[in-house]
Amino acid sequence: MAPVAAAASLVFSCSSSTTVSVSSLLFNNPLHFANSTSPLFSYPSSQMHTLVVTAPTSAAPAAPPPTTKAISRLSVGDTRLATNPPRNLNCTSSSSNSSASSSSSSSNSSNLRSSSSFTGNKLVVKSTFPATIAAPPAGFVAGCVRAMSLFGGDSNGKSSSQNEEIRRGSSGEPLYTTLAGHPVTDDNNSLTVGEGGTLLFEDLHLLEKLAHFNRERVPERVVHAKGAGAHGYFEVTKDVSDLCKAKFLSEVGKKTEVFGRWSTVTGESGYADTARDPRGFSIKFYTEEGNWDMVGNNTPVFFIRDGIKFPDLIHSQKRNPQTHMKDPNAFWDFLSLVPESLHQVLITFSPRGVPDGHRHMHGYGSHTYKWVNSEGKAHWVKFHFLTDQGIKNLTHEQSVEIAGINPDYSTEDLFQNIQKGNYPSWTFKVQVMPLEDAPKYRFDPFDLTKVWSHKDYPLREVGKLVFNRNPTNYFAEVEQVAFSPAHMVAGIEASPDRVLQSRLFAYDDAARYRAGGNYLQIPINQCPFAKVQTYARDGFMTVNNNGGSKPNYYPNSFEDLPRPDPHTPDVHPYKLEGGVVGRYPPRKWVEQDDYEQPRALWQGMSAEDQEMTVKNIAGHIQGAKEFIIKRQIAVFRKCDESLASKVEEALDMKKKSPEPYTMVA
Ligand code: HEM
Repeated sequence: MAPVAAAASLVFSCSSSTTVSVSSLLFNNPLHFANSTSPLFSYPSSQMHTLVVTAPTSAAPAAPPPTTKAISRLSVGDTRLATNPPRNLNCTSSSSNSSASSSSSSSNSSNLRSSSSFTGNKLVVKSTFPATIAAPPAGFVAGCVRAMSLFGGDSNGKSSSQNEEIRRGSSGEPLYTTLAGHPVTDDNNSLTVGEGGTLLFEDLHLLEKLAHFNRERVPERVVHAKGAGAHGYFEVTKDVSDLCKAKFLSEVGKKTEVFGRWSTVTGESGYADTARDPRGFSIKFYTEEGNWDMVGNNTPVFFIRDGIKFPDLIHSQKRNPQTHMKDPNAFWDFLSLVPESLHQVLITFSPRGVPDGHRHMHGYGSHTYKWVNSEGKAHWVKFHFLTDQGIKNLTHEQSVEIAGINPDYSTEDLFQNIQKGNYPSWTFKVQVMPLEDAPKYRFDPFDLTKVWSHKDYPLREVGKLVFNRNPTNYFAEVEQVAFSPAHMVAGIEASPDRVLQSRLFAYDDAARYRAGGNYLQIPINQCPFAKVQTYARDGFMTVNNNGGSKPNYYPNSFEDLPRPDPHTPDVHPYKLEGGVVGRYPPRKWVEQDDYEQPRALWQGMSAEDQEMTVKNIAGHIQGAKEFIIKRQIAVFRKCDESLASKVEEALDMKKKSPEPYTMVA
């Protein structure tokens, strides 16, 4: 067969700019959100997407002619965009026969550590250790070299791809091998007895391909299954050493590697990004003292205040056990019976309920945590990550439309922006409460359905998060990353928040199920800057040297083996009230009502925001049974008469409307 020499280049030039007015957001009520911005936004903005298809310049040497079409490749990051351009855009296409080079990365960026491009029919992957990231500290060890491949370099600072030697076949071309490394002779024709004959068990490559394919999926996350991730760094911009002794916060200008993941909660891994749902906001800080996982959401509160209700909450929002459909009855039945959810419900149905992509939302630790300084003085803190891109949201109509056109809308927006060097960033701030204030504060400071007033506890700047590198492999990095709120470093500790306490168990347990008992050996989960020295051994997928020949028990009689360090306390000593064991709601929860903060939120909204919130609620709840609607309206009425009556009015109008019902947004 004659070699195919030309590369065809298809260019979709998509440009259209529709300015859509989105209601002004009055969430700058200090009780709720700090930085409300951007009443107007442009959607969708002008974009250019390139699809490059290349074919091999020479046929495989000894193999019989391929029976499949010549291999086509797409430039990194452009595939889905090119094949599925956003609707309402004017798309033109052009093609040329030149052997064009198409770069899929931003070339003017000094931070970019991994980029890939096609030159002719060659895939060129470049990686550089970023100038902005400090070299690994002295404690960096050879055992971490494996993990470093994910960080774009090895212990010498060289990029992994530069070091990677390609194994070549007899023709000098890169060799395709079986999983065990034997040369593959032919990947198009299974081994048969004669031309028309049956297949043979001797065809290891065929059996291996089919068997491995059957095992490609791991269980998806039980919640937050749909997500996008990126690498980046955190830089300290303000001195907070008076508050926290964590070494990565020790001085202004200090930088720490991070990996972030943003997600929706209740949909499956293929679900629409524009669902009306809270968004996950998880950041893994690879610090010299081990990883700190900040696993938060884009809202400062949550639906429940005790972790024991979490599985029920999620069951009610996922699929019906019989119909396997989203179920408005389960959704509103649960919420109307659990009025502590009202604060989160109002936020979810407000204009902030569907962010316009992951870049345009804030992140919150949501829970109260404890920061301890080097003198042992502690404060309660709440984490806020304020988007530097500005808040932008989608209306119900936009969300539903985009869900059909481009379910990966936010995933794509994040990837494309990082790819073109438009790195998203967030400013990290904390609210700080002296320990002694907690018992006196007018709200229970550990109740996850409540915020702390910004007037009482103003925001204090800590640093900046910047995301400047896309994952190289989605499964290896974004799917296998496992965040756990239990992973904290000295200086950061838990609070008595009952939801947080439940979460301290849930995540490592979920990771053991999802990625296996040795999930912390997976490179994306390893900290390359803090060597693991443990007596834990064995188990499925032990892929490190498993402690070699060293003893696997402690205490032992050997001097050079790991031992606990009493001088690095993992917890700031604190006093807990003793009492009789039982199942009690904390005193403050009994005393205070569930409506005060939602009422302040509702009354602080502009008329336009109120109208949209009501419309979103009515559109969603109309699918539920009458008695459930009535119960939820009673909950709204306890919050504010106008909220309840407006929802009732909107429901009357919805009943007459021919609009189809959807629970997507
Ligand atoms: C008791 C309450 C909760 C429980 C039991 C719980 C449990 C879980 C579980 C099992 C996962 C999947 C983890 C995995 O497979 O790797 C998960 C993911 C997640 N949860 Fe929770 N969750 C709770 C509350 C919350 C709250 C209050 C927040 C935010 C403030 C939150 C934020 C997240 C995020 C962001 C993820 C995705 C992490 C990632 O990107 O991989 N969860 N949760």
